[in-house]
Amino acid sequence: RIADPCVLVMFGITGDLARRKLLPAIYDLANRGLLSPSFSLVGVGRRNWSDDDMREYVADAVRGGARTPWRQAIWDQLAAGMRFVELASFDDDGAYERLTRTVTDLDATRGTGGNRAFYLSVPPAWFSTVTEHVAASGLVDEVPASWRRVIIEKPFGHNRASAQELDAVVSRIVRPDDVFRVDHYLGKETVQNILALRFANTMFEPLWNQRYVDHVQITMAEDIGIGTRAGYYDTIGSARDVIQNHLLQLLALTAMEEPISMRASAIRSEKEKVLAAVKLERAGVLDLDATTARGRYEAGFQGGVPVRGYLEEDGVAADSHTETFAAVRLEIANRRWAGVPFYLRTGKRLARRVTEVAVVFKRPPFLPFTDAATAGLGANTIVLRIQPDEGITMRMASKVPGTQMELRDVTMNFGYGASFNEESPEAYERLILDALLGDAPLFPQQREVDLSWRILDPVIEHWAANGVPEGYRPGSWGPPSAHDLLARDGRIWRRS
Ligand code: BG6
Repeated sequence: RIADPCVLVMFGITGDLARRKLLPAIYDLANRGLLSPSFSLVGVGRRNWSDDDMREYVADAVRGGARTPWRQAIWDQLAAGMRFVELASFDDDGAYERLTRTVTDLDATRGTGGNRAFYLSVPPAWFSTVTEHVAASGLVDEVPASWRRVIIEKPFGHNRASAQELDAVVSRIVRPDDVFRVDHYLGKETVQNILALRFANTMFEPLWNQRYVDHVQITMAEDIGIGTRAGYYDTIGSARDVIQNHLLQLLALTAMEEPISMRASAIRSEKEKVLAAVKLERAGVLDLDATTARGRYEAGFQGGVPVRGYLEEDGVAADSHTETFAAVRLEIANRRWAGVPFYLRTGKRLARRVTEVAVVFKRPPFLPFTDAATAGLGANTIVLRIQPDEGITMRMASKVPGTQMELRDVTMNFGYGASFNEESPEAYERLILDALLGDAPLFPQQREVDLSWRILDPVIEHWAANGVPEGYRPGSWGPPSAHDLLARDGRIWRRS
C-alpha cells in the first residue's frame, strides 16, 4: 500500500536521528514507490536555513545513509515538496504561524489534502511546548476527510508519572489511536519474526513454558561508547534508554500468549497482559541488590584502541551517577512462566555488538549415558539472533563420530542472509510508512509504556538512593555484579 498524500512536519530535522535514520528512510520509501508523489516534508529547526539549504542537507543525509540507489527523478520529486521553517526557540509564536502558512500552502499546491503527521524528534522536555503551540496554531484544525498523527520517539517520559503527563500533553492534539510511539526495535524484521516463529510453527510453542524452559536471557550489547550523545544519555542511563522500551518489548513478544489475530489491538492486549504479570521479586522476595546490576565503563582499551572512561566523555557531569550497563532479573507470574527467570542486560562498550534472545531449556530429566559421555554438554538453547547476524540458532547435543558414545553440543542455523535474497528494509522505513498508513501493530500504546515504567521505576529509584555504578572494563561483558546476578541462581551469562 502507498501512503496517502500528506505533509510530514519534522521537528528536530537538524538532529542526529533525522540525519542518520529518518531522512534516508524517507528517501528509500519514495524510491520504492511507497510515498505518494505529493508527499511533502517540512523541516522545523533552529538553523537559519532556506528551503534550498535544507534540500542540500537532506541530500547529504540521503547519500550517506540510504539503502536504495540515487535516482535523480525521485529526488527531484521529493525535493520539490521540501520546505524549511526556522524556529528561534520552541515557543516562538511567529514560527508556528509561518509553519501553518507553509503547510496550508503545500496542501493547496501539492494536493496533500490536509493530512498531517507531526514527527517530534526533539528532547522530551520540549514535547509539551511544541504540542501546545501546534494545538494553538490551527495546524490541527479539522479538515474534512483528512487525518492528523503525531509520531514521537522514546524516551516516553522519565518515569511512570512523567510518561502519563506526556501522554496527556500529546492527547491534547490527537486521539490516542493517532499517536505513534516509535520503538525502532519493533520495526526490525527479526523482532517481528519472533511472532512468526512462535505462532506459525508447531514445534516451538509446546516447549515454550516453565515445564521445559529453564530461563531466558535477553541481551542488547554495544561495543560503542556514548559518543557525542552525553547531553541525552547522561540524564537517562541504559535502563531508561533501552530496557524500558526495546528489551521489555522483546520480553513481551517472547513471553506473551498467542494473539487472536495480528491486528494491533489483539497483539497489544497480549503484550499488556504479560507486562502486567512481570515481577521484580525473586521467589516472592524483593531484593533489588540481588536481582539488578549496573555499571559504567572505565578508561581502557577496546579492540587495541585506547578509549575514555564514561566520566571523561565530553559533556558528562563530573558527579554523574548514570549507568552505561544495566541488568535485571524478572519473573512472570502466570501459569506459563512461573519460576522461570528472565535476565535482561544491556551496555555500552561491551565485548561486541549483539542483540539476542536466548531461550535456555532444562536438562533432560534423565540421561542414559555415562557421566563421561555427557560431561561437556550444555543446555538445549534456541537463540533468536536479532542482530547483527540475523537468524536463529538451535543448540542441541549430538554424538561425536567415532566408536565411543561421546556427546557434544552442535548448532543448527537459520540465517536471513542465506535464506532470503531480498534485503530487509531499515526499521525506520517500515515504521515511518506504517505511521503514514495509520497501521498500528508495531507501535506501543500508552498502556504498554505505563506497564514498562511500573516495572522499572522501583529499580531506578533504588539505584538513585544507593551510590554509584560499578566500573567495568571496556571490551568486557560488564561489571562483576552482573556475573553475580546469575551466579546467585547457579547460572552464567551466555558468551554470544
Ligand atoms: C537507541 C538507543 O534506541 O538504540 C541507543 O537510544 C542505541 O543508545 C541504539 O545505541 C541501538 O540501536 P540499534 O538498532 O543499533 O541496536
